[in-house]
Amino acid sequence: MAKTQKTFVCTECGNVSLKWEGRCSACGEWNSLQEEVTVKGSAKQEAKKATQGAWTQKRGRKQEHARPTHITKVQGDGTVRTPTDDEELNRVLGGGIVSGSIVLIGGEPGVGKSTLMLQLALSFSGKVLYVSGEESEQQIKMRAERLGLRDNDCFLMAETNLTNLLMQAATLGPDVLVVDSIQTLSSQYVESPPGSVSQVRECASELQRFAKETNIPVFVIGHINKDGAIAGPKLLEHIVDVVLQFEGDRNYTHRILRTIKNRFGSTAELGIYEMQGRGLREVSNPSELLLTQKEEDLSGSAITATVEGIRPMLIEIQALVSTSVFSSPQRSATGFDLRRLSMLLAVLEKRCGFQFGNNDVFLNVAGGLKVSDPAIDMAVVAALLSSLEDVAMPSNVCFAGEIGLSGEIRSVQRIEQRIQEANRLGFEKIYVSKFNMKGIDPANYDIEIVPLSKVEQLFEDLFQ
Ligand code: TYD
Ligand code: MG
Repeated sequence: MAKTQKTFVCTECGNVSLKWEGRCSACGEWNSLQEEVTVKGSAKQEAKKATQGAWTQKRGRKQEHARPTHITKVQGDGTVRTPTDDEELNRVLGGGIVSGSIVLIGGEPGVGKSTLMLQLALSFSGKVLYVSGEESEQQIKMRAERLGLRDNDCFLMAETNLTNLLMQAATLGPDVLVVDSIQTLSSQYVESPPGSVSQVRECASELQRFAKETNIPVFVIGHINKDGAIAGPKLLEHIVDVVLQFEGDRNYTHRILRTIKNRFGSTAELGIYEMQGRGLREVSNPSELLLTQKEEDLSGSAITATVEGIRPMLIEIQALVSTSVFSSPQRSATGFDLRRLSMLLAVLEKRCGFQFGNNDVFLNVAGGLKVSDPAIDMAVVAALLSSLEDVAMPSNVCFAGEIGLSGEIRSVQRIEQRIQEANRLGFEKIYVSKFNMKGIDPANYDIEIVPLSKVEQLFEDLFQ
C-alpha cells in the first residue's frame, strides 16, 4: 500500500533528509530545509517507470547501452550551432543555439524574460513551440501582436503538465522548445506542489533528458528569489547547460543578458537590449545609450571607460558633495559599492588632504547600471573632486584606473579595448595608470593617453 512520508529537502543542494535540521548536512547551508510529502511505492511511481522515455519511442529511437569510444572516433555532430536573428542572444550563447542543449533564463518578475523568449520564437527561422504555464494562448497572442507578428512557424500551448508537454513536443517535433516557466510545471509523478524543490528538480531533469534524446534545444525560464538566485535548488543550475541572467532596473529601459554558466562558450559575454513599446531592441553600441546628453559641462560628472564582461563601454559617474546639516554626514551610492566609496573618500583625505568629514556625499552611476569593475575608481575620484571644487570636467575626457589604499593608480585589465572605445567615441583624452602603458604605443591612437601613478597627480592635472 502507498505510504506517505515526510521528508526535508535542501533548497540549495537538493539533499533529502528524514528529519528537520537547522543546517543541511550535505552542503552546510543554514535554514535551507523545506518540508515535502512524498508517496512511496505508489501506483504513480510505478506508472512513471512504465512511461519514462515515452517520447523516445515515439520518435522511433531505441535506448542503447553506452560503450566507451576513443576520443578521436567521437563524432563532432553534437554541437551544431544555429544562429538566431538576435545578435545579442547569439553572443551570450557563444554563437548560436546548440542542438540538444538546455538553457535556463533567470530574472526578476517583469524584467522581460517572456518577451525575450517570445521574440525568439517569432523570429526564429524554424518551427518553435512556446509553452506557457503563466499565460493563456490568447494573452501570448496579444503580446505577439504587440511585438509585430511575423509569418513564421510558431506554435503556442498553455500547459503545466510535464508529461503532456513532452508528448506534444515530441509529436510536433519543433526546432526549438521554450518553456515559461519551470516553477509552474508539474510532473504528475511527484506529489509536491509546482515550484517545490522536488518538482523543479524532476521537471528539469525530464526536460534535460528530452533535450538530449531528441536533440531539440530547450529554453527554460526560471524565477529568481529575493537574493537574486534562481529559485529552486542549485542542482537546477548543474542540470542545465547554459544559465543566463536577465537583469535591469525597471525604471530604466536597458536590460542586460549575462552568462552565468555556459558549457559551449565563454561566460564573459554580455547582451544588451532596450525595452521599447514594441519589445526588446538589440543594442550593439551601448555607450551611446548610457552616456547622457548634456548641453553644458557641469561639475561632479566624469566619464569612465569600463568593461562589462568583455565589452567596453563608456558610462557617466555623477557625484554630489554638499555641506551636511547633520552631525553625521550622509554617504549614499547608487550602482556602486558604498564601502568602496568610503575607502576612496578615506584615500582622498589621507593622501591629498581633502576634508569630506562635514559633507554629504552622493554617488550615482548614470543609467541605473551596477558596476563592479575596479577601473571606475578613477572616474569616481574625479567626479568627487569636481563636485567638491565645483569645477566642471571637460566633456571630452575619460578615465580608466583602479585606486589602491595608498593612493596609487593601479593597472586594469583590457586597457587597449577601453582606449579604443574612448577613441572611437571621439574622446580626446584618457587618464590611465602608468603601469598599464607597457606594450601600448600612443602613436596608434588619435586620443591623448595620460599615464598617472598617484591620485595627487590626477588632481594637479585636472584642477591646477
Ligand atoms: P515580461 O516579458 O512579461 O516579463 P517577465 O516574463 O520577465 O516577468 O515583460 C513585462 C514588462 O515588459 C512589462 O512590464 C511591460 C514591458 N513591455 C514593454 O515595455 N514593451 C513590450 O513590447 C512588451 C511586450 C513588454
Ligand atoms: Mg513572464
